[in-house]
Amino acid sequence: MTSNAGENRRTVLTGAAALVGASALEAALSPTMGQVGASVAIPYGVAVQEDLLNADPRYLAAVKSNCQMIVAEGAMKMGGIQPQRGKFAFQGGDNLVAFAHANGMQIRGHTLVWYAANPEWVKEISTPLEAERELVRHIEGVVSHFKGRIKSWDVVNEPIAEEPAHNRDLRRSVWLQHLGPRYLEIALRTAAAVDPGLQLVINEFNIETNDKVQRRRRDTILTLLRDLKQKGVPLGALGFQGHLHGHLPIDKDAVSQLVADVKALGLDVLVTELDVIDNQLAADPAQRDVAIASRVSDFLGAIAAAARPTAVLTWGITDRYTWVPMYFKRADGSRNRPLPLDAEYVRKPMMRVVQDFCRSGA
Ligand code: G3I
Repeated sequence: MTSNAGENRRTVLTGAAALVGASALEAALSPTMGQVGASVAIPYGVAVQEDLLNADPRYLAAVKSNCQMIVAEGAMKMGGIQPQRGKFAFQGGDNLVAFAHANGMQIRGHTLVWYAANPEWVKEISTPLEAERELVRHIEGVVSHFKGRIKSWDVVNEPIAEEPAHNRDLRRSVWLQHLGPRYLEIALRTAAAVDPGLQLVINEFNIETNDKVQRRRRDTILTLLRDLKQKGVPLGALGFQGHLHGHLPIDKDAVSQLVADVKALGLDVLVTELDVIDNQLAADPAQRDVAIASRVSDFLGAIAAAARPTAVLTWGITDRYTWVPMYFKRADGSRNRPLPLDAEYVRKPMMRVVQDFCRSGA
């Protein structure tokens, strides 16, 4: 089935569902990307909130029918997985792994080290020795627990400063505070030592437009990757989060150049958290959806012009559940539309762009 046919079928199904009150599950059924997983060039995945798989049957159906991969939106962050010092809580992560495997999907890990979503107890860390011991213990505990089941980890999430003052300016965190920049090296070496087969990812956002801050951020992330490679630190890929700003054009040349530079270091790229922040786009939903799909197309095209990403993941699947309004509510009060399915699980143009891209690999 072509994706156009899929969209037509979707429209028909949606209309029918509305008219006769047909199963909400049906409205979530797309041209079943999940079932054609073997034939896609690039696996497509989404960030999943574990509790929703049980709470919302439409959500469950949408994830199962569209994805070849999932990533934990929250269940594997340090605050959830080691809420008390030395006590790991793996249930949420284990449930996601079991769900992925039962449905023939891969699962990525997110995230071992971050400045945010940490447990309260990390605030008690007071010396470099203690910081290194806890960082290593956390990574060893988590990576070994999921060894063989998770093959790609966001080892360090968002390491560079929000607005870097220079090209080695890193984001303030408990780890930087006590260990300095070597916390990245410790984290990557520890993860690699536990599972040498892992794809080790450094994950970043706001590196795709021509805005002055984003230009500096590109320079900073590339400098970081170069420094790590020069020291022989194990590293597999740069994750482009891809939280695109709908009103800012993609600097396609700069994105392609960054991907080429990253590849030249012997690293892969992947898209880890794609969505489109639409607080400054048109009110009309249809118009907005077209602008969003176009941004996504520019972004993916610019990456593919230099190299094929190893995966593309969106940060959620439906506008019903998204982090975007936590920070980017629309002034007109209408719902944000950052994701491939709308709040009623109807496919939007963004889904077609992502799925076409993943099917063809370009
Ligand atoms: O689970 C509690 C719930 O019990 C409580 O009632 C509710 C009240 O606020 O909060 C719930 O927890 C929230 C959680 O999301 C689950 O929805 C947290 O407050 C909230 O801070 C948390 O936000 C997450 C955020 O990371 C911080 O961990 C977002 O869902 C998640 O989408 C976001 O994801 C990040 C990536 O990890 C890194 N890149 C950027 C991306 C978007 O901000």
